[in-house]
Amino acid sequence: MELLLDTANLDQIREALDIYPVSGLTTNPSIIAKERRSDYFSLLREIRALLGRERTFHVQVTRTDCEGMLREAEAIRKNVDEDVYIKTPVSKEGLKAIGIMSREGFNVTGTGIYTTIQGELAAMAGAKYLALYYNRMLNLDIDADKVFRETAQAIASSRLDCKIVGASYKSIMQVTNSFADGAQAVTLPPELLDTAFANPSIELCVRNFGRDWEKVYGDKGIAEL
Ligand code: E4P
Repeated sequence: MELLLDTANLDQIREALDIYPVSGLTTNPSIIAKERRSDYFSLLREIRALLGRERTFHVQVTRTDCEGMLREAEAIRKNVDEDVYIKTPVSKEGLKAIGIMSREGFNVTGTGIYTTIQGELAAMAGAKYLALYYNRMLNLDIDADKVFRETAQAIASSRLDCKIVGASYKSIMQVTNSFADGAQAVTLPPELLDTAFANPSIELCVRNFGRDWEKVYGDKGIAEL
């Protein structure tokens, strides 16, 4: 299982890295634009410095034609590093770009995936990750769990070197469903991740354990015994 952060906010990234078992980070043009940084590549390098090279970093292209996507991929590589996953929408032009980049040794993440066939084609073209948009599928009355399951089965049966990274989450249940459907990774905004702990039962049980302990050991913790 892999947990990725879906944000480009440096404060959020620092805070989340301190707490959560983070394997990587995804951005898209909307997420980047939210930070209002004109020094785009500096922002990417600052994010990479926080992540380190051991975590995956997925950066999305903005052009919609294959040539433009390839030029942007080169620019990202040159200004950040060669490990970056070039996040490429799985349109017809995107699929063409995914094939070319994969053959040239780029790490590629297919994104904007709403249907099983999009995911399967991107995997066949060489994408290493497939970003399946869970909540956006639901909004379109698409059975997201079915798409996740079918894509996971297709990857497994063909033994492709490719992982599903579930994306576009609006609830924690969507995240847990995705793992149950066979996703290997999920990406979500830190504020959504925090809601997993917005459950008063967690605090209550911790308080009750402490109360029982204090009855015998007072204010001494295990390290003071
Ligand atoms: C990440 O890879 C996706 O671009 C992102 O999760 C999309 O999220 P949204 O549907 O909330 O915009």
